[in-house]
Amino acid sequence: MSAFSFPILATGSALPKKAWSNAALIAEKGLDSSDEWIVSRTGIKQRYIVGEGESTFTLARDAVRQALSRAGVDAKDVGVLVVATCTPDLTFPSVGALVHGDLGLPPECAVLDVNAACSGFIHALAVARGLLAGSHAHYALVVGAETFSNVVDWSDRGTCVLFGDGAGAVVIRKERGSEERGTRGVLGVSLGAEGACVEMLKSSGGVAQGRVAGVVQMNGREVFKHAVRQMGEVPPLLAECKVRLADVDWVVPHQANLRILEAAALSLGVQMEKVVVTVDKHANTSAASIPLALDTAVQDGRIKRGDLVLLQAFGAGFAWSTGLLRW
Ligand code: UT7
Repeated sequence: MSAFSFPILATGSALPKKAWSNAALIAEKGLDSSDEWIVSRTGIKQRYIVGEGESTFTLARDAVRQALSRAGVDAKDVGVLVVATCTPDLTFPSVGALVHGDLGLPPECAVLDVNAACSGFIHALAVARGLLAGSHAHYALVVGAETFSNVVDWSDRGTCVLFGDGAGAVVIRKERGSEERGTRGVLGVSLGAEGACVEMLKSSGGVAQGRVAGVVQMNGREVFKHAVRQMGEVPPLLAECKVRLADVDWVVPHQANLRILEAAALSLGVQMEKVVVTVDKHANTSAASIPLALDTAVQDGRIKRGDLVLLQAFGAGFAWSTGLLRW
C-alpha cells in the first residue's frame, strides 16, 4: 500500500471535427455493408475520423488542454505525462514529447508513451501512479489517444467499420494519505497479458518489418470470445481493494462492441444501467475509449464525487487491465 493517494481532478477529451455515420462511411469507402449489419453486430452508429491538420498528437494535446483547464492546474506544474497509444504521429519521439513541446511542460517532467493497444489507458494510469509515487512530482497527466483510421484496411469490411479516432485525458494529483477504501483516487490497478494470442489481433507490419505501419488484422470471432471471457470475470482486484461488486457504481469498459459489453455485464452480474456505453457514438477508439467514456459520464453528471468506478480493458497482445477508482 502506497503512502499516497491519487485523486483524479478532472477529465478532458477531443474528437476529430467530422463524424461519419455508418451510411456515410459505407458510401465514401464503397463498402459491401449496411447500417443495419453494423448496428446489429456492434452497436456502432458513427465514428469520428481525423481530417486535415488533425492527428493523434493534436487530439492528445487538445484533450490535455481541456483537462488541465478544468482541473485548474498549470502546465508548468505537471511532473509526469504518459500517453497510451499505438498509432503515434512519429515512430519517435513519442506523442508525449510532441504534447510536452507544444504545451510548454517543464523540463523536469517525465514523458513517455505506452503501447498496450486497447488496454493502454489503464496501463498508462498504473505507470503514472508509480512515477508520481517515486518522485517529487505532484501532478500527472494520463492520456489515451489514437487515430486507428490510419491503420485500418479500408477494403476489409470486417474490421474497418469498427474503429474511430479520438483522445481522452485525466489530471491526477498526488496527496499524502494511503489508498484506502474511502480515499478518493486510484484504489488499485491490475494488468496482464496472453502473449500466445498475438496472431489473433495485430498490425500486418511494423518499423522492423518492412518500415511500414501495417494495417489491422483480426480474427473477430476469437477476439470476441476472449474479450467476453476476460471482461466477464469478477476481477480479483475488487477483493484486494476490499470492495464488493455490488458497491461499484459505474463500470467503464473499453468500448469495442456493444454485444461484448452486454455479454460481459451479464456474466459479471452487473446491470447494463451501470455500464457506461459510448461505442455507439465513438466506435472503438482503442486506448482512447476509456478516458473518452469517463469524460462523457463525468460531464453528463452520471459519475459523481465519491462513486466507485471499475475500469476494464482488453485488446491486442491480449493485454488486459482493470482499474478501480473512487471518484
Ligand atoms: O478492441 C478489441 C478489438 N476488437 C474487438 O473486440 C472486436 C471483436 N469482434 C467482434 O466485435 C465481432 O466478431 C465482429 C463485429 C468483428 C464481427 O461480428 P460477428 O458476429 O463475429 O460476424 P462474423 O465475423 O462471424 O461475420 C458474419 C458475416 C460474414 O459473412 P458470412 O461468412 O456469414 O457470409 C462476414 O463476411 O458477416 C459478414 N461481415 C459483414 N457484413 C456486412 C463482416 N463484416 C461485415 C460488414 N458488413 N461490415
